[in-house]
Amino acid sequence: MTQRREFLKFLAASPLLTNYSAFAQEVEQTLGQRLTDPSEVINVFEMEAIARERIPPAHLGYLSTGVDSDLTLRANRAGFSRFQIKPRRLVDVSQTDTMVNVLGSEASSPIFLCPVGSQGAYHADAELGTARAAAAKGHHMVLSTMSSTSVEAVAEARGAPIWHQLYSTNRWEYTVAMLQRAEAAGCTSVCLTIDLPGGRNTETDAVLRREDTRNCASCHAGQSKPMFEGFDMTGVMTSDAAMTWSVIARMKEVTDMNIVIKGVEVAADAALAVQFGADAIWASNHGGRATETGRGTIECLPEIVAAVNGRIPVIVDGGFRRGTDIYKALAMGASAVGIGRPYCFGLGAFGQAGVERVLDLLNRELLIAMRGSGTPTIDSIGPDYVLDAGYRVPRGRLGRELL
Ligand SMILES: Cc1cc2nc3c(=O)[nH]c(=O)nc-3n(C[C@H](O)[C@H](O)[C@H](O)COP(=O)(O)O)c2cc1C
Repeated sequence: MTQRREFLKFLAASPLLTNYSAFAQEVEQTLGQRLTDPSEVINVFEMEAIARERIPPAHLGYLSTGVDSDLTLRANRAGFSRFQIKPRRLVDVSQTDTMVNVLGSEASSPIFLCPVGSQGAYHADAELGTARAAAAKGHHMVLSTMSSTSVEAVAEARGAPIWHQLYSTNRWEYTVAMLQRAEAAGCTSVCLTIDLPGGRNTETDAVLRREDTRNCASCHAGQSKPMFEGFDMTGVMTSDAAMTWSVIARMKEVTDMNIVIKGVEVAADAALAVQFGADAIWASNHGGRATETGRGTIECLPEIVAAVNGRIPVIVDGGFRRGTDIYKALAMGASAVGIGRPYCFGLGAFGQAGVERVLDLLNRELLIAMRGSGTPTIDSIGPDYVLDAGYRVPRGRLGRELL
């Protein structure tokens, strides 16, 4: 953080960049002090700036990191600029409806809360704050294997069926036990994350960890995730490098939950997921935290939707920060859109109230996009409303996220 602030100060002093960087510096340094009520926050980027002031450096590093040079992380944002909205006019948009139903889970908005681990690191409200915000706003929530809070407590706080995200360990009996525990807690679908078969290189995390002067060991020593309760995790991996598509059939033998395959990026894998019996596909590159492909998820979506050809729902996440981003994905054939960091910024900034504010902001922006495009319902948003311009706007000209 210090280095970043020093750098911003340096930029502010530069005659070339004075206007932009002076503003950026102010936003970066004082937004959290000036905006004390979540209702004052006008978009997700401001919420991020506040969260950056309030979350301790090492935890912020974990939340914000991509992998290697964070190219995929940035591609997730830049990818949206390739797609343009084609609005229609003089359609009655006085009544709007954003309800969706994916695999039997009804929600008042197509914006799903992605599984994000360790939410206790961002705010004491942790997953319970997220679940209560999701309940207050009618959003669907997916809980990580790596949650700071037990699946039973979160399911209760949400008050409606949540989905469980699974990292299969390399001990199958543990995987079975986690599936059965999630199902017993009332989860109706399980999202098997397949994009981390063996390690990742999270350098932004490593850099920010260096800046944290707290004694990490005193908090982290002996800590275990509630989902691993009762397991001897010595030598156990939280991914199974030997896993192949047959895992879907093996999971179906031990659970009645729907199986969602999370982490698909190409058409060939989308086709295989359908062939091997997946109930839905979640197009994702883990928020740019898995393989440094350089490809934004929104750019992967068209080939995945084409390969699935309507047979099962497709959910997508990665870089969604605006209602128009969500609109584009829906037009391209997604049944729902996941957000990860945005609601965690809300959580880190203001706890549950911050998550609620992020959901309000994105829902409002989505509704404006729907009305402005002549599409009053989610079903009415189809491929005619989006165009692939075939190029990305160069980074540096995308908008407020560059604060
Ligand atoms: C801090 C953090 C932790 C995450 N933990 C998990 C996890 O435990 N399981 C999982 O499947 N995905 C996890 N993800 C990925 C998200 O589910 C989602 O794919 C991603 O955050 C979407 O991108 P966005 O953050 O740009 O919205 C995590 C993402 C972040 C930022």
